[in-house]
This record gives sequence, C-alpha cells and structure tokens, in this order.
Amino acid sequence: MVQATPLLLVLFLALGAHSLQATQQCSLTGRWVNDLGSKMNLSPVDKNGGFTGTYRTAVTATSNKIKESPLQGSMQRNPNQKGQPTFGFTVNWSFSDSITVFTGQCFVDDNGEEVLKTMWLLRSHEDSIKNDWKATRVGFNVFTRPKPLE
Ligand code: BTN
Repeated sequence: MVQATPLLLVLFLALGAHSLQATQQCSLTGRWVNDLGSKMNLSPVDKNGGFTGTYRTAVTATSNKIKESPLQGSMQRNPNQKGQPTFGFTVNWSFSDSITVFTGQCFVDDNGEEVLKTMWLLRSHEDSIKNDWKATRVGFNVFTRPKPLE
C-alpha cells in the first residue's frame, strides 16, 4: 500500500491535468481585434457550424474610404477539434471590389487567453487576365479579445 501511494498520486495529478486541459474551450463568438488593429464581431455558431459577422479593417490596399463589411464563415464541428476548432470565413469588402478568405484555428494560449491564428488570401479585381499574376496577396493575422474600452 505504501509503495502504491506515489503511483496513485502521479495518476491523480495526470488525470487532473488532463481534465483541466479538456475544459479549455475557444469560442469564436463575439468581438476580436487583430495585430493590424482591424476589428470583427462574430455571431454565435449555428448547428451546422455556420456563422456571420462584421469586419472593420484598419488598412486597405485601395484609396477608398474604409467601411464595415460583412463576413460569412464556417467552423469545423468534428469532436476531434477538442474545443480548439478550425474555421474559415470570407469578407466581402463593401468599399472595394476585392474579397478576402481567412482560415485558422481558435486556440487557448498558455495564459488561458483565446487567440485566433489565421492566414488570409486577398484577391483583387483585375481588368485583364494578363494581370492575374499580381491579383492575390497573402498574409497572417493574429486575433485576440479586445481589452475593455478597446
Ligand atoms: C481592400 O483593400 O480591397 C479591402 C481591405 C483588405 C484588408 C486586408 S484583408 C487582410 C488584412 N487583414 C486585415 O485586417 N486587413 C487586411
């Protein structure tokens, strides 16, 4: 019995750590701000994984006045996602003739904070197929929850 005690303790701690990890849920819903200062607000995810939202970019590749733009997205609902789901969404810019698709994953970081790690493709409109080669920009964005008053 004396020898079994440390083993039981290790097992208990391991199970405790595992159940703590299992409770780390990342939710897409609500307000986010990214490393460029762009802001978005996401609706609750529906039973099929669909969601909508609004996006206010802080920057633009055009000379147009920036306006809030709609987005539509889809979240992966497979149970293997373990509370940190993958997702994608498309922003249909209301002030330019471009489209951006984002893909990413909702993580809970080491400080217990939710974070969206994304990559994006920004497709611009070209008047000629000859210019297709220069039509797509690519990049990364990291979204976090806004601080109060942000
Ligand atoms: C445009 O310039 O035609 C539309 C705005 C594009 C903004 C891009 S999308 C990727 C990157 N992340 C942002 O938050 N804004 C820029």
